[in-house]
Order: sequence, then C-alpha cells, then structure tokens
Amino acid sequence: MTTQQSESAAQTATQTAQATGVHFPAGFLWGASTASFQIEGATKEDGRGQSIWDTFAATPGKVFNGDGGDPATDHYHRYREDIELMSSMGIGAYRFSIAWPRIQPDGKGRINQAGLDFYDRLVDELLKAGIEPWPTLYHWDLPQRLEDDGGWPNRDTAHRFAEYAAVVHGALGDRISDWATLNEPWCAAFLGYAQGVHAPGRTDPAASLAAVHHLLLGHGMAATAMRDQAGRFDRPLRVGLVHNQTVLRPHSDSEADLDAARRIDGLRNRIFTEPLLRGRYPEDIRTDLARVSDFGFVRDGDLAAISVPLDMLGINFYSPQRVAGGAEGIDPALIEPGEGEVWTGAEDVVFVDQGMPRTAMGWEIDATGLTEVLTRLAADYPGVPLYVTENGAAFDDEVAADGRVHDSQRVAYLDAHLRAAHQAVEEGVPLKGYFAWSLLDNFEWAFGYSKRFGLVHVDYGTQKRTVKDSGHWYSGVARSGSLPD
Ligand code: NOJ
Repeated sequence: MTTQQSESAAQTATQTAQATGVHFPAGFLWGASTASFQIEGATKEDGRGQSIWDTFAATPGKVFNGDGGDPATDHYHRYREDIELMSSMGIGAYRFSIAWPRIQPDGKGRINQAGLDFYDRLVDELLKAGIEPWPTLYHWDLPQRLEDDGGWPNRDTAHRFAEYAAVVHGALGDRISDWATLNEPWCAAFLGYAQGVHAPGRTDPAASLAAVHHLLLGHGMAATAMRDQAGRFDRPLRVGLVHNQTVLRPHSDSEADLDAARRIDGLRNRIFTEPLLRGRYPEDIRTDLARVSDFGFVRDGDLAAISVPLDMLGINFYSPQRVAGGAEGIDPALIEPGEGEVWTGAEDVVFVDQGMPRTAMGWEIDATGLTEVLTRLAADYPGVPLYVTENGAAFDDEVAADGRVHDSQRVAYLDAHLRAAHQAVEEGVPLKGYFAWSLLDNFEWAFGYSKRFGLVHVDYGTQKRTVKDSGHWYSGVARSGSLPD
C-alpha cells in the first residue's frame, strides 16, 4: 500500500465514522500480532536451537502438506520491510513473540547473543518507526531440549522459563514497558499434551493438567523475576499474559446441557483465570477432573506465586461455542466432529452447530461472543486492564487480476468484532487496545500455510507482500480510532 492510499483510506474512515459515531476512546491502542515460529523462518540460523515445533513439523502426518517453519514469511530477514508496512498502515503497536531457542538453544544455561541481537534490532527499528513493541515471551516454541527433560509437565520448566524471561527482559527492558509472558496456555497444555494435535504431540491427559499448572507457575515466576530487576530501567514495567477466553453456550436449559457448559467453561476459562486472579483452582473443576488427576503437582506457595498482580490481561477471541451434555436428541449432522476429544475429562460433552456462517477454519462467526467475554471478565475480575491481543479470521484469499486482495469477508468480520468490542467499552469495560491477528499470512500450526489470517497477503513463492483490502480498511480504523459505516 502506498502512503497516499493509506491516507485516503484513513480520511474516508474518519469522515464516515463521524456520521456513525463509533469512536474508540482517546489513547486506544491499535495493533497487529504475529508469533515467532509462524513468521520468522531462519530456523537454523545464528545459533538458534531446535524447538518442539521443528520436531513436530518434521514428523510425517502432523502438519498439513508436511509444511514446516522454513522459510515461513522470512520475517527474520525481512523485518525492516514488515515494519515499513506497519508504519504505512498506521499501526501503533506490534505484538510479536520471542523464540526461546534463539535466546537459549538448550532452554537453559548458555545464552546465544546472536539471538538476542535479532530482537534488539527489531525493537530498535520498531521504535524508530514509532511503533510500540509488545513482546510475548512464550508462543509455543519450547526448546526441544526442555521437552526431552519432560516439557511443561515437568516442574523444572517453570524455573527455566523464569530465567529465560529475566534474560530477555534484562536485554530489552530499557526500551519495552509492556510484556506478555505466555500465549494461550490452553492450547499449549491441552492441544500439545492431551490431544496431541500441537507440539509436542503427546496424548496424556494427566500430563496436560500438570502442564497447565507449570505454565501458570512459569508465568508467575517470570513476572516476579522481571519485576525484581525492573529498577535497573528507567521506565515502567507492565506484565500480563494472553489467554483465549471464550463463551460456552448451553444447547438448552436442561440440567445436562447447563452442566456441560459449566464444565467446559471450567476447562477453557476458569482453570486459568481463577488461579491467576483469585489464587485458587475452583473445587468444581478439581472434582470434575478427579479421575484424571489429584492435582498433586500443586505445592505450598504455588498459588501465591501464580496470582501475582496482572498489569494487563490479553484476550484472544475468535468464536463462541455451543455445548450439550450428550448427543441424545441432537441431529447428528449438527454435532461438531472430533471436538469433544479435545477436552480432558469431558470427552462426553458434544459441541453443537449454532447455524452461523463460518471462516475457512470452520469456526462459526458470532461477534456477540466478544462483548460477552469482555463484559464477563470485567465483572468477574474488576480493575484488570484488558486488551484484545488477537482477533481475526482465515479466508481463502487470492490476489485478483487487479493485483489486490478483495477480502470483504475479513473486513466484515473485523468490523463486527470491533463493534462488539466498542459495545463492551460503552458498557464500562476497561478495554485499552485491540490487536488484529495477524499482520501477515503465516504458518497456521497443524494447518501449515493452508490458512490465511493476514491483513497482508504473502506469496510464499516470492515472499511478495500485498496489503489486502482488510489491511487498508484496518489502516483507516487505526489512524482515525473510529469505525466507518
Ligand atoms: C491463536 C494463536 O495464538 C495463533 O498462534 C493462531 O495462529 C491463531 N489463534 C489462529 O488460530
């Protein structure tokens, strides 16, 4: 996109928004998100160690089409171009993740200066462009060596994570205030260790619960380690975490369906938010899971270590879900295939089609879920600043004959979700910013490169970037802080 195009999109957005009055508060942060393994490539360069995603992707049958982390979008070499793109789009903050195996190839001990240097250059370049860096310390690329030692089900990984966090914060804390420790611990624990569809591909429900606990413990210990050294730097430190809270709607008001919604809400939402924000694992969750685990991994002091203050809670939201306590009486065509298996200890619950349109991921589109998520969190845990750290949609985008990408479905998705977020702000939710997922088309985990979430299209043959219509549209929103008609 040329600067002129961006500016004219912004002007149009401003003019029409003045008519509709959908304005976000002054200072609202407009960002875009990515993650290291999904965009960087260069998996063998400059001393980077192996991660569990390198191993998983190299295992036949695990990732669609045998796709892997190289060259991805080659962001490791093209980061300057990508920052220029963000700058031309008026994006104010960039949420990226740091690849632990670039910093500590074995996940512990030796620090790889060349790895730190990459993020050092990235951060300097972002600051030069006036874009706030928002790093996430763990977006799923665990050093393979730590998995060989037991991975997240092993308590020691939490200690190693805190050490790594202190190293990165020590190197970049002079220039960055806002940090997230973990991204979506639900996926890391349950998809990685129970269902096995994400790295490291284990299918051990008891281990997945230990992983939940050690991820949370790692978060708390990392936040404390960073705060302990924050006095070295002349800037405030704000530490939070990114969680994929969603809405679980009961299929009916039968006791079984209401209970299914309670159970899945426990596994998806409360097993994370309650220890983090109230220092406890709710009794109902422990009872539901008693046949899987006795929670013997919780030691004295752990819950206090986990529930250290959160300066922000990042929410990734894509789709709400409807659940039922069993398949009886439900048209089999409406039952979501395979979904129940994902849920440790609740495999009997079925997920039911809500009759909404779907994205290319097969995820139903219903933006009202975002308002619900945000208003509930603000009511349950008052006073915690919230950010939407991911929201977006995959569609089968193509570059058209005119050289552009006309992704009107993504524009409609983003528009509806931003209206839903605005509604939450109107209702008093302390929502401070929004990050679109994703800046670029990228490696969508087990789906490889087959799903495109970007505001910017990537031609994987040439690495050419093309700002999609949604990118131009988002640029107008980010510059004006308002939604067009
Ligand atoms: C959540 C994850 O954080 C991100 O890595 C992923 O690509 C998106 N959701 C879309 O599935």
